[in-house]
Amino acid sequence: MCGITGYLGFREAYPIVINGLQRLEYRGYDSAGIVITSNDKSKLFKTKGKVSDLKKIAKKNNLEGNLALGHTRWATHGVPNNENSHPHLSNSGNLVIVHNGIIENYDTIKKELIKRGYTFHSDTDTEVLINLIEEVQIKNNCKLGKAVQLALTNVVGAYAIAVYDINKSDEIIVARLGSPLAIGIGKNNTEFFVASDASPFIEYTKDAIYLDDEELAIVKLGKKIRVRKIHDDSIVEPNIQELKLNLEQIEKGGYDHFMLKEIYEQPSAIFDTFRGRLLADKGIIKMGSVDNNITKFLNAKRIIIVACGTSWHAGLVGEYLLEDLSRIPVEVEYASEFRYRNPIINKDDIVIAISQSGETADTLAAIKLAKSKGAFVFGICNVVGSSIARETNSGAYTHAGPEIGVASTKAFTTQITVLALIALKLGKLKGEISTSDFHKYLQEMKLIPSKVEELLKVNHEVEKIALTYKDAPNCLYLGRGYNFPVALEGALKLKEISYIHAEGYPAAEMKHGPIALIDESMPVIVIATKKGHYEKVVSNIQEIKSRNGKIIAIVTEGDTIVKKIADHVIEIPETEEAFAPLLTTIPLQLLSYYIAVMRGCNVDQPRNLAKSVTVE
Ligand code: G6P
Repeated sequence: MCGITGYLGFREAYPIVINGLQRLEYRGYDSAGIVITSNDKSKLFKTKGKVSDLKKIAKKNNLEGNLALGHTRWATHGVPNNENSHPHLSNSGNLVIVHNGIIENYDTIKKELIKRGYTFHSDTDTEVLINLIEEVQIKNNCKLGKAVQLALTNVVGAYAIAVYDINKSDEIIVARLGSPLAIGIGKNNTEFFVASDASPFIEYTKDAIYLDDEELAIVKLGKKIRVRKIHDDSIVEPNIQELKLNLEQIEKGGYDHFMLKEIYEQPSAIFDTFRGRLLADKGIIKMGSVDNNITKFLNAKRIIIVACGTSWHAGLVGEYLLEDLSRIPVEVEYASEFRYRNPIINKDDIVIAISQSGETADTLAAIKLAKSKGAFVFGICNVVGSSIARETNSGAYTHAGPEIGVASTKAFTTQITVLALIALKLGKLKGEISTSDFHKYLQEMKLIPSKVEELLKVNHEVEKIALTYKDAPNCLYLGRGYNFPVALEGALKLKEISYIHAEGYPAAEMKHGPIALIDESMPVIVIATKKGHYEKVVSNIQEIKSRNGKIIAIVTEGDTIVKKIADHVIEIPETEEAFAPLLTTIPLQLLSYYIAVMRGCNVDQPRNLAKSVTVE
């Protein structure tokens, strides 16, 4: 993971790169560093910790210079300390690099370089790469771009890199394989920006190139960007895209945290996801990517969903939706397991890959594997132009807008929205849903954003519950049917941001183990909505109560039975069972949020996590 960014042009580079790093901190925040070059003289600052720590170190210095590279790190090779932080210099001190990814064969290369007299100051694979580039350049007496290209033909792994020579301050070389890299282009090529995503430069330019895998670009002041394929040296005509992102979308907009902002954005995010697709009054679901491949969808013998983390939980909801509404058998797989276990994939299987970032390495690898076995792969991504969006045969964007809080919220509900649209559309076409039921679903889906809006008003109630349980060491989440994946997601949210141990279970499985944990100090969050196996869940609640567990129940408006037994209840508006996850998940997100804030945790950047996991 890690975020890289850089600037080359006529402005002061330091503020641009530092701000850019702050926007990229969602990609990792174990350490940060920056190199600034002015008239062939460079200053390098790096430190364990966050970009704010880096700023403190750098601020007493003269930071002038029109060329800079910055890095924010999620540690892979070497502990997060100052030495292992990027940027890294080559042995001569002339070449500098920032890198996102992993060089898998770094150890072999390192041994070879040591034999040739190179010394290393860090434990990183990146320092090995910059010295390999230096060695190649000396040996071949070539330009830096060529040296980077030749060096990369010798490495195995994943990378997005930016490299420059401090004696040649009008050029940056960038390359990618497996990790994202965007280049922002200023007017008449008078300035350039490089970054892991476009957020560091959206206020400066809307023109950007997203490098593809295996591509290297020479970014030189006053010149058009030149792109080549790394292995066969062929020239690639760069595709300059117009960015749709705006600054407001990536700022907190008055909220204390991005996570809270993103929770509150869900009514509009869900609406934006079905806008133009759900034509409720006409009784139509229009999805170009499904329509264009409709024969494949209707003939699919099986759908395999691959994803990681919260997206995997959305996939589980998708399994209920697709099997229930369209009667297509579904399997949901962790992408990391799927890719390594020689899965059986048939030609008439459809693989749906779900990913907010569109960059998750395991999901990307699962897609490549499925494609190599002849499957049709459909992507559900949030980030436009991301690697997964480009790698899949077809797909649908969620249109949730940038999600910056590391704990995923609006991505989850919008992924479910897309899955629900697909399931309904296929169900109708296959004759599994009657016309009147279909209309009922469409009308109900239309109301979901306003129901979420209404539901968000429970924040004060949830805050009070959070205060009561903020010091609990453990927490159990239970749900059945459509709400089972919601229980898993609720538990994941709590552990991610508050570091409280939490587990999600299908409510009926409680008696096969977790019940042993229940005592008077154990909060149990139970989702007990009216249409979701209600009576059964009520029995499970009784079982917890008779062992003195504390019950926080999510119930349907007007519930009277659970209210009498539970310690706390949170009401959600009534909806179709199939859409329940879009509502029941909201109070669970708020509960995790408030508990984490009360425990003094860094909600947007929880320890050890990163948002975009571009390593295996
Ligand atoms: C990381 C994030 C999670 C996310 C998962 C999958 O672990 O912290 O929030 O659910 O990656 O990410 P994706 O971008 O593929 O949905």
